[in-house]
Amino acid sequence: MQVDPNKVFIFDTTLRDGEQSPGASLNHREKLDVARQLALLNVDIIEAGFPIASPDDFAAVKAIAEQIKGPTIAGLARCIEKDITRCADAVMPAEKPRIHVFLATSKIHREFKLKKAQDEILRQAAGSIKLAKSFVDDIEFSPEDASRTESDFLAQVVEAAIDAGATTVNIPDTVGYSIPSEFGDVIKRLYDTVPNIGLARIHVHCHNDLGLAVANSLAAVQAGARGIECTINGLGERAGNAALEEIVMALKIRKEEFKGLYTDIKTERLYKTSRLVSQLTGMNIQRNKAIVGANAFAHESGIHQDGMLKERSTYEIMRPQEVGIEDTDLVLGKHSGRHAFKHRLQQMGLVLNEEEMEKAYERFIALADKKKQIYDDDLLMIAHQEMTDAEGVYVLDHLQVSTGTDVVPTATVRIRRGDEVFQDAACGDGPVDAALKTIDRITGIHGKLVDFALQAITTGKDAMGEVSVRVQFESGPVLSAKSACTDIVEAGARAYLSCVNRMASLQQIAHSGDLEERPTEPTP
Ligand code: KIV
Ligand code: ZN
Repeated sequence: MQVDPNKVFIFDTTLRDGEQSPGASLNHREKLDVARQLALLNVDIIEAGFPIASPDDFAAVKAIAEQIKGPTIAGLARCIEKDITRCADAVMPAEKPRIHVFLATSKIHREFKLKKAQDEILRQAAGSIKLAKSFVDDIEFSPEDASRTESDFLAQVVEAAIDAGATTVNIPDTVGYSIPSEFGDVIKRLYDTVPNIGLARIHVHCHNDLGLAVANSLAAVQAGARGIECTINGLGERAGNAALEEIVMALKIRKEEFKGLYTDIKTERLYKTSRLVSQLTGMNIQRNKAIVGANAFAHESGIHQDGMLKERSTYEIMRPQEVGIEDTDLVLGKHSGRHAFKHRLQQMGLVLNEEEMEKAYERFIALADKKKQIYDDDLLMIAHQEMTDAEGVYVLDHLQVSTGTDVVPTATVRIRRGDEVFQDAACGDGPVDAALKTIDRITGIHGKLVDFALQAITTGKDAMGEVSVRVQFESGPVLSAKSACTDIVEAGARAYLSCVNRMASLQQIAHSGDLEERPTEPTP
């Protein structure tokens, strides 16, 4: 089928590169929820994970390939046979499967990381693409650290990759080193020098170490690239990847400047997708973040407010509704029925089974009793809490704290694990400290709180307090989670317990020997 030359393909890598962001790990079910929402957003390609990385990654990519219809489903593989076959097994059930193989090409990576000469790199890349091609037709190749690769060698690699059967060649700025004029030139030079370039689509994949990921990606499409690899909220390794919402809105709002280039993204779904990813990963969005930050459409100064009242376009370059921010998202109240509740959750991309839906509905009614106005963010939090409880090894049953100016803060906690019930109490420096210490005593999993941030999720004194925590476990990863409640100590305890649950399932996988297959070579 003929592809419109003005269409820019959106390749979302939130579930692969984004999930590599420290603390942003998602469980299997959460990955499916994000993938479902990305399909609603109408991205062209979902990079669902790195199947060789762990059995859990493999299972998540396979489940996404089986269940998510619409976008192409890609899996990542190094140029190594076992990676490629594993990736093929995972993506094969998809309607449109893709294998994405990568190999570093820059001098610095060749000499220090791979210890390989240029001709070896060329052979390994071509051989791997051919192997991948024996499983699926749609093959993407990425010369890792392309932006720091010698231009002649990069051109040779791209030509060889296309000759070997790559249908997409992605040019990554892996370390976020490039600047827009230079990165645009990299792409232009490839179009000028690679004879078979017309046989593949050129993508770009920019990291944000200098804060230029979006600018570099846009310079690349102006120079001829037709695919952008990006993540929701700019999530990703170190300073992150190019933010999908910023790229899409820049192309939309400045369409003339981009000479009619466009994406197929349903922009009115951007905000919901952003909230879902933030909620599930536990990664907060900075208030002044472009497009989806809480202040992105807030006008504070008197002069601006006056201008807005006279004519919105004086200070507003896009309507909040275009990205899915409604004037009010107040939708449900205490008289809303189960059907409306379920429907609203589904619109947000969340699918709960019958039992979870019933429990979530009970939580919603309980909250509606305490709080007059229920917003989408409240609903998202309720549903996520229910999913977390359903997945978790440990479930918080009861929490009581006593605190005050002249008392030693003490917490009593009751936790369930299946049919077992545990109860304990501890003192602490404050009510949160006491609650978390008690959780540590009960679960035997000890975490160090490295971050504890509190914000109101919606407006009003009766708003739920949202607590985001980052927890460092002994000889383990840093994990993040969020929870919200009208009681902020309970919110903190629930968020902390989510991290403990995630740690417990990582420990279970490690004990069952599942992690033995983790790649020994560094991952991208
Ligand atoms: O940043 C990078 O180079 C990558 C590649 C695997 C595309 O993530
Ligand atoms: Zn990357």
